[in-house]
Amino acid sequence: MVTIQSPQETLMRINRLKKEGKSIGFVPTMGALHEGHLSLMRKAKEENDVLVVSIFVNPIQFNNKNDLEKYPRNLEEDKKKLESVQCDILFAPTVEGMYPEPVTEKYDFGELEQVMEGAFRPGHFNGVAVVVKRLFDITLPDRAYFGEKDFQQLAIIRRLVEMEHLPLEIVPCPIVREENGLAMSSRNERLTPEQREKAAFIYQTLQLAKKRKDDLCPSPLKQMVVNIFDANPDFKLEYFEIADEKTLQPVTAWGKQENVRAFIAVWMGDVRLIDNIRLN
Ligand code: PAJ
Repeated sequence: MVTIQSPQETLMRINRLKKEGKSIGFVPTMGALHEGHLSLMRKAKEENDVLVVSIFVNPIQFNNKNDLEKYPRNLEEDKKKLESVQCDILFAPTVEGMYPEPVTEKYDFGELEQVMEGAFRPGHFNGVAVVVKRLFDITLPDRAYFGEKDFQQLAIIRRLVEMEHLPLEIVPCPIVREENGLAMSSRNERLTPEQREKAAFIYQTLQLAKKRKDDLCPSPLKQMVVNIFDANPDFKLEYFEIADEKTLQPVTAWGKQENVRAFIAVWMGDVRLIDNIRLN
């Protein structure tokens, strides 16, 4: 594996590989790698000639200063994990390298960005879109891999590819969980071992919601989850939404849409966790 910091050098190297007819599989990350990230990389390695991974803690997608400062960073550990999945190129740029000038791009994702993460984290998805577009321009992927853990992000990236007519395929990948059901996340590193055990409650509640779907309409089902979290002092619920998988708009009655998913964001101390589950 080669590690490259410079965007220009990365672009030149990948350009050469593409001219040789090699296909590029790309996995963008913010590092602090775990099995969730590695599952994307294994799939990308399998489906392409060259695996390119980026590690960049993107400051412009953080709407919370504390979250950015405390975001876990461990490049040396990450490199070992990347070797284990036979990553070919690690692109690890600096903030100055990615943003030499003030950022002016403004994307409009319409209703997709007005709910859930978009509503609670102003500017977040614009920051994600700006960095992902630039990463695509540098790494020239044939396929790029994104986890369903960040389901709304996946929808936003799909829309970005459509709007910008980018010649690449977005490949969705299933959520990887800890043994206790907690969705893997770099932010889990910030939980104490005790909190990490207790955080299994989030997925347990999602599973319960799925089980009760046949007995309850969306609104009482939502209220049930709100009540469950109200009664648990370990968590502060930010939102629980039941939404259409395509439009991400709230669902008020069952049956009108093809696929419905439940989405959740909760605080455990000063750590914010998200998860989702398909209901049908
Ligand atoms: P990051 O949180 O590091 O996640 C990188 C990729 O790994 C994303 O596509 C995310 O959905 C996926 N992922 C994370 N945890 C997962 C899990 N438990 N199971 C499956 N996939 C998982 O998402 C970002 O970084 C950034 O927003 C980024 C796209 C890199 C732009 O800065």
